[in-house]
This record gives sequence, C-alpha cells and structure tokens, in this order.
Amino acid sequence: MTNVIKFLSKNVSNKIASGEVIHNPSSILKEILENSIDAYAKNIKIILKNGGKNRIHIIDDGIGMSKNDAIKSFERYSTSKINKIEDILNISTKGFRGEALSYISSVTQIEIETRYIESDIGIRLIIENGKLKYNPLPIAMDKGCSICIKNIFYNIPAKRKFLKSSKLELKNIINEFYKLALSHNDINFYLENDNKILFDLKSSSYKERIIHIFGEKIKKFLIKIKKTTNLVKLQGYITNPKYYKSNKLEQYLFLNKRFIKNKKIHDAIITSYEGLINKKYNPSYFLFLTMEPSKFNINISPSKTEVKFYDEICLCKQITSTIKECLGIKKISNFLLKQVNVKKLSTREITYFNNEYKKLKNNKLKKSFNEKYKWIQIYNKYIIGFLNYRLILVDQNRAHQRILYDYFDNNSFKKRIKFKFPIEIKISNKNRFFIKKILYKLNNLGFKIYLIKDIMLVKYIPIVLYIYNIYKFIEIIIENGNLNNEFLYKKICKFFSIKNGEKLSKLEIKYLIKNLFDSNKPYYTPYGRKIIFNIN
Ligand SMILES: Nc1ncnc2c1ncn2[C@@H]1O[C@H](COP(=O)(O)OP(=O)(O)O)[C@@H](O)[C@H]1O
Ligand SMILES: [Mg+2]
Repeated sequence: MTNVIKFLSKNVSNKIASGEVIHNPSSILKEILENSIDAYAKNIKIILKNGGKNRIHIIDDGIGMSKNDAIKSFERYSTSKINKIEDILNISTKGFRGEALSYISSVTQIEIETRYIESDIGIRLIIENGKLKYNPLPIAMDKGCSICIKNIFYNIPAKRKFLKSSKLELKNIINEFYKLALSHNDINFYLENDNKILFDLKSSSYKERIIHIFGEKIKKFLIKIKKTTNLVKLQGYITNPKYYKSNKLEQYLFLNKRFIKNKKIHDAIITSYEGLINKKYNPSYFLFLTMEPSKFNINISPSKTEVKFYDEICLCKQITSTIKECLGIKKISNFLLKQVNVKKLSTREITYFNNEYKKLKNNKLKKSFNEKYKWIQIYNKYIIGFLNYRLILVDQNRAHQRILYDYFDNNSFKKRIKFKFPIEIKISNKNRFFIKKILYKLNNLGFKIYLIKDIMLVKYIPIVLYIYNIYKFIEIIIENGNLNNEFLYKKICKFFSIKNGEKLSKLEIKYLIKNLFDSNKPYYTPYGRKIIFNIN
C-alpha cells in the first residue's frame, strides 16, 4: 500500500504559521479545491446545497489517495507536501500545513471516496467528529477524489448560528471560486448550487477565462501585460481607463498562481492610472507574478494570502513602470528616443575620460562609471558626466524644463502623439467660456482637445509631453487666467517636465543631455535657475 502522506514533526509544525482558517463554507471550499489542484486534477466539479451551508461536494480527477493515505489525511499535521521546514522555501503546492482536512472533519460530516492513480479499486470513508464511523469500504470508481462535506458546524451550534444567509455564503463561495478559477485556467471547473448550473468553465487562455467569468463586456477593455525582469515575470491583464468599477471586486493579484493581498503592490498598480481615472473609481486588474521562492516569504498568515517581498520597493517600481508603459504613459515618447544618437567620443576624449576617471575618489561613483558609457544618473535627480574635460552635474528636472520651453518657443510645427486611450473630462459650465479660449491656444501648440457639451475630450498632445494629469494642468491655467505665450510655455515646462526622484533609462538620459546641449541657453531654466553645476 502506498504511503505518500507523512506526519510533520512537532518541530516543523510549530514553525508553520498556524491558526483556524475555517470559519464558513467559502473557506472550506478554498481548502478542498486547493487540495484537488495540488493533486493535479484537470476536471473539478463543485456541487453545493444551500450556498454550501448544507453541502459542499467536490469531485476531482487528480491522483487520489491510497487507503492508508486517506485514513491519515484527516489527522492533524498529515501532509504529502512537505517534510522539513526548508521545503516551505521552495513550495509549489497550495497546501503544506496538513491541517485543513483534520479541522474540517472535526466540525462537519464527511464522506470521502477516492481511488489512487496506481490502484484498481477505490475506498469510501465516512468521518464524523474527526473519526472514522465505519471501516473503509472498497468501491469501484474512476481515479481521483470525491469529498462531500455536510452540515457545517453541526456539532458547534454557536458557530452554525453565525453562518450568513445562503445567498451571502454563496456570494463568498463564488468570490473564492473566482480566485482559483482565474489562476488555474488550464482546469475545467463546474459549479452548481441547488441544482442550478452557475459556471461551466472549459480550460482556456487567461484572457478567455476572465471573459467567461466577468462577461463579454470586459473583453474590449482588457490590456495585456507581459514583462520579465530579473526579479519578476509579470503577466495578465489590466483594464483600459474607460472601464472601471465603484468597488474593488475585480482586482486580483496572484503570486506563483496563489491569490495574494498586498497593499503596496495594489497602490503601485493604482498610481499607474493617475490622471487617467477619477480617484473614486477602480480599474480592474488580473495580475500574475511569477517569482523565485527565495525572493519572498509566504508563511506569514495561515490563510497564506499575505506575502513579504524582500525587495518590495523595486518590485513596486517595476510594476508601475510596466503598467504605465502598457497604458501608453511614457516620460519621453519612443519616437523621440529613437532619434537620439549621441556621437561617439574621440580618442582624445576617451584618454581624458580615463585619466579623470582614475582620479575619482568616490568609489561608488567610480563603479557606476565603470562602463564605456559617458553619463549616469545619481540620486534619481542628477545626471553626472564629463563635459569639456570637467565633471559636471545636470539637474534632470531643470534640464527638461529648458528642453520643453525651447521646443515650444522655436518650433512652428508641433508633432502630435495620439493617446492610446482618449481621456474624457467633465468640466463645469461656469468655466466653459475660458476653457474654450484655453483649448484654442493649446490646440495651436500641438494638443488636440475637443469640447463636446460639458465633456473635454483629450485626443492628442504634443509629442514632447507625456500624459499626466491634463485636467490639473487646465485648472492651473484657469486659476492664473493668463494666456500669454511665454506664460503658457513656462507653465507647460514646469508641469510636464520629468521630476526629481524619477528613475531614467539610459536612452532617456541620452535624450536629456543631447537636447540640453542643443539649446542656446543650456545653463539656465526659463525661470532663471541653474541647470548645470561644476563639481570639484
Ligand atoms: N483531492 C485530493 N486528492 C489527493 N490527495 C488529497 C486530496 N485532498 C487531500 N489529499 C491529501 O491529504 C493531505 C492532507 O490535506 P490537508 O489537510 O488539506 O493538508 P495539506 O494540503 O496542507 O497537505 C494532503 O497532503 C494530500 O496528500
Ligand atoms: Mg490542503
């Protein structure tokens, strides 16, 4: 007889974050479904009675259990998933505490029918009060496992009393179901309640699974996310700013196929939408992170939804920048970046650079220069490099102000860039007249903003700008009530310039440096502030 389930030693079980995680039908469903997924099921059927309060029956076609294992499975700390505490570091299964079945069997009536993949016959076990009611019976069945849980908390009336209405319990069950169905799109899921089929999901792509669950209406708003860095693989979908909800129910974050909650990452996603969506509304997201287990710790809460990421700041930044890119928000447009082609250094310059470089005392700085590249960013604020044989600092924000100002001051033809998602902004009628005047002016500068009744529709902006909070910008102009050209250019360059604290890519650094030194007035901003500093 096969024995895959082992008992965790006290030493291991004490180290695992523990606690009761079963308090209603949806938490039972989660545990049982996760077991089916861990058992490699490809078809999972869920049959509920009375929103799960009277019955939760889950049938899977996974590897099943042998007789010995089935008997052990509902004892405390019995698990086939880990042996030693180090195993948690590399955990790929959903469960590992070996507690769920034991606890569930002590507060419900359970019938387990299972046939191990390598066995010819199955067995039936009936468990009450955590104990076998009869000797297990051999039965004929397909491989897999069927677990039928009846009368939750039948032996703890005080807890049974606190169960919500069937409708509410069903709602909670469905929310739990969504999390697993979304992250396991390769599994067929069937769900019925009181003989009514609620879902019959066939294995499909992530995108199709989202549409099958949330309806066709979401389809045209889904934007694909795909990016791999050395820290994380990001995949999934976000929604276009035109699609939003008044609640947060369509926001799903997964780590290695496990649903997680993390406030910092949520905020990182939402900040990416700044200026595109009213703060009151919530965009939908279905984001899947894949990371090496050594980069986070999942063993914090018993429900395993809290995660500690060791490099959270970097992770959040990568998420924000990826989403911004997918929403079409760039500090500097690709079109402009493609035109940057900084001329190579002459041999004389290289010799000079090498000599100066050797003299540098600051080791950290030296290390950053330790590549052929001439300019680098420091403190997310300055660009540092050699100019005419001197080491200089360039203030990134001020440099960009100068570039933007010159662009509007010199160019007669303003190239535009189309917003991926035109922004609609409601305006108040009392400003309508002045806004019309502002729009006329801005449209001459390369914007294309329409006013249709009380809606301002922003379709294009000058190619040198990047989408930010246009409404805020127009508010500033309204407040100042001035439409003089110089005043407008100054406001634009202040509002749309790259801020201090923003990390720049190598190409963005090149763009700033090249365009700054193309200016006739590279040393001062239009406001008269110094851009370039010598350092000695
Ligand atoms: N549907 C299933 N198919 C196969 N084995 C199962 C199934 N459900 C539970 N088991 C076995 O029972 C053991 C105990 O389950 P559980 O109490 O949920 O603990 P854990 O999932 O943390 O290991 C699992 O480790 C697994 O070996
Ligand atoms: Mg489990």
